[in-house]
Amino acid sequence: MSSAVTSKIIETRIYDGQKPGTSGLRKAVRIFMQEHYTENFIQAILQALGEQLLGSTLVVGGDGRYYGKEVVRKIIRIAAANGVKKLIVGQNGILSTPAVSTIIRKYKTLGGIVLTASHNPGGPDADFGIKFNCENGGPAPDNVTNKIYEITKVLKNYKIIPDIAIDIDKIHNTTIQVDGNPFTVEIIDSVDDYVEHMKNIFDFSSIKILLQGSNDRPAFKVLINAMNGVTGPYVKRIFSHELGVTDSSIVNATPLEDFGGLHPDPNLTYAKDLVNAIKNGPYDFGAAFDGDGDRNMILGKNAFFVTPSDSLAVLAANLNSIPYFKKTGIKGYARSMPTGAAVDRVAAKTGVKLYEVPTGWKYFGNLMDAGHLSLCGEESFGTGSDHIREKDGIWACLAWLSVVANLGKSVEDILLNHWQTYGRNFFTRYDYENCDSEAANKMMHHIESEIQKPEFMGSKLTSGSKTYVVKLGDNYSYVDPIDGSQASKQGLRILFQDGSRIIYRLSGTGSSGATIRVYVDSYEDDPASLNKDAQEVLKPLVTIALEISKLHEFTGRDAPTYFL
Ligand code: G6P
Ligand code: ZN
Repeated sequence: MSSAVTSKIIETRIYDGQKPGTSGLRKAVRIFMQEHYTENFIQAILQALGEQLLGSTLVVGGDGRYYGKEVVRKIIRIAAANGVKKLIVGQNGILSTPAVSTIIRKYKTLGGIVLTASHNPGGPDADFGIKFNCENGGPAPDNVTNKIYEITKVLKNYKIIPDIAIDIDKIHNTTIQVDGNPFTVEIIDSVDDYVEHMKNIFDFSSIKILLQGSNDRPAFKVLINAMNGVTGPYVKRIFSHELGVTDSSIVNATPLEDFGGLHPDPNLTYAKDLVNAIKNGPYDFGAAFDGDGDRNMILGKNAFFVTPSDSLAVLAANLNSIPYFKKTGIKGYARSMPTGAAVDRVAAKTGVKLYEVPTGWKYFGNLMDAGHLSLCGEESFGTGSDHIREKDGIWACLAWLSVVANLGKSVEDILLNHWQTYGRNFFTRYDYENCDSEAANKMMHHIESEIQKPEFMGSKLTSGSKTYVVKLGDNYSYVDPIDGSQASKQGLRILFQDGSRIIYRLSGTGSSGATIRVYVDSYEDDPASLNKDAQEVLKPLVTIALEISKLHEFTGRDAPTYFL
C-alpha cells in the first residue's frame, strides 16, 4: 500500500511533572488520557534524539495493558510526522520489555518505546507508562531522561499526521509517503525474535529432558504463571511448543488489559496463587513474571522461596551450565546497592570482578557495553545478563532450569549447598506504600542527619542480645566507571563492622504518594544458622532500623504494607 499524507503542527499546553522515574514516565491512565498529555511526552522523546531521529528506525510495543494500543497508534502518527523512517511494532502492540531490548539490538535500531507500567496494576483506573530504550537496548540513562524532561517543560507544539490508520493486529508491512519521504510500519510477530535468542543462549534439549523425565530421573514438574501479563504468548511458545510442558502447567497465559484484576508483580504477596498451587500440588518448581516480563520469582518444591539476591548468587556460581557463557566467558557480576550481598561472596571466591550500582537496570548498561559484565540482578526480582540490556524473567527461569538440569538436585538442595559453600546473606525488605510524601521526605532528612553526625561512626547499636558497631553512614552516590557520570542521593546506608547493612530508599516507581523501602542484609557462616528463618535472624537489625528512622513517628505506620 502506498499513499501520501502531510504532517500537521498542533499547538499544545505544558504539563508539569513529566519527569521519568526509575523506569520511564509512570502515571495513572487518566493522567495520560488528558488532551495532549501523551502526545507531548512522545514528541519530547523524539525531539531528545536530535538529528539522529531523521531516517531512523524505532521499535514500539508494550505489555498489553489498557490504553496501550491507543498509544501505539499515537506513536505511529507522531513518529511519521517527525521524520522517523521506520517503526517495528509488535502485533497487537504486544512486546515484552526483554523482547523490545532483543529487537533493538538485533535490528540495530536507534531505540524503542516501551508502553508499560511494569508490575503496576492495569485498567482504566490503574496505571500506564512510557519508557524509552536506547540503541544498546537498555533503558535511557539519566542524561537522556533529563533531556526529555527539559523538553516537556518548554514544548509549544507537536507534529502529527492525524489521518494515518494502520491495522496493528495483523502481521504486515505498510509504506506511506510522508511529506515526500517513505515511512514504513512493520507489524511483526511479538515472540519470534525473542524465542530464537533464547534458543541460542540455552540448551533447550537438556531442559526438555529435565522437564519430560528420562530413564534415570522422573519428570521435573514445573508450574509457570504469566500473571495475565505480556509473557503469556512467550511462555506458551517456549514452555509448551518448544519444551513440551502440558497446558495445565501454564496459567494466566493470555495477556489481559487489566491483568484480570491481578497486581502483576511476582512476589510472595501478589503471586500467592502460585505459592499455594506449588505448596499443595505435585510441583518441583514454580515461576511467575510481572506485567512486562522483566521480573521473575522462582520457587522450589513446597514453595521453597529463592530470594532474588540468592538467585543471582546461585546463577553466578553456576553459569557454566549455560552454553552462552561458555562462549562469552564470565566478565563480571553486578548487583544494585540495596540487593543482598550474596553474589559478592561468589565473586570473591571465584576471582570475578563485582560491581555495585544504584537501583535501576539502566546502571548496568555501560558496564555491559564495555564488556565488563555478564550477570547482574536486583533484590526487586530482576535477574539478567548481557544477552540484552533489560532484566529478563523468562531468561531467569530458563537459567534456573539449566542449573537444575546440570546439578540434578532440587532447588532447596541447590540453595543449601550454596550456603554451605559461601555462607548465607540473610536479606529482607520492608515496604511502606502510599505514605504521605512530605512525611516520607522528612523521615529521610531525619535519618540522613542522624547518620551523618560524627559520633554516629563507631557507635554501638543494640537490640536484644545483638550489638552492631557502625562503620559508616552515608547517602549513597555512584560514579559510573565507564563514562564518569555521577548519580547522587541513591539511598541512605548504614554499614556495620560485621558487614551487615541497613538501607533506606524512597521508591522511584510508584505513581502516587511515597513508598518507603527499608532493606536489611546480614551475613552468617555458622552452619547451625544457615537454615534459619530470615525474619528471625534479622529481627534485631530491623528493630534498630525502625528506631533510627522514627518511621512510626513520621508516617504513623505500625507495620509494613508488605515485606519479603
Ligand atoms: C524497576 C527497575 C528496576 C528497579 C526497580 C526499583 O523495576 O526496572 O531496575 O530495581 O524498578 O523500583 P523502586 O520502586 O524500588 O524504585
Ligand atoms: Zn517489569
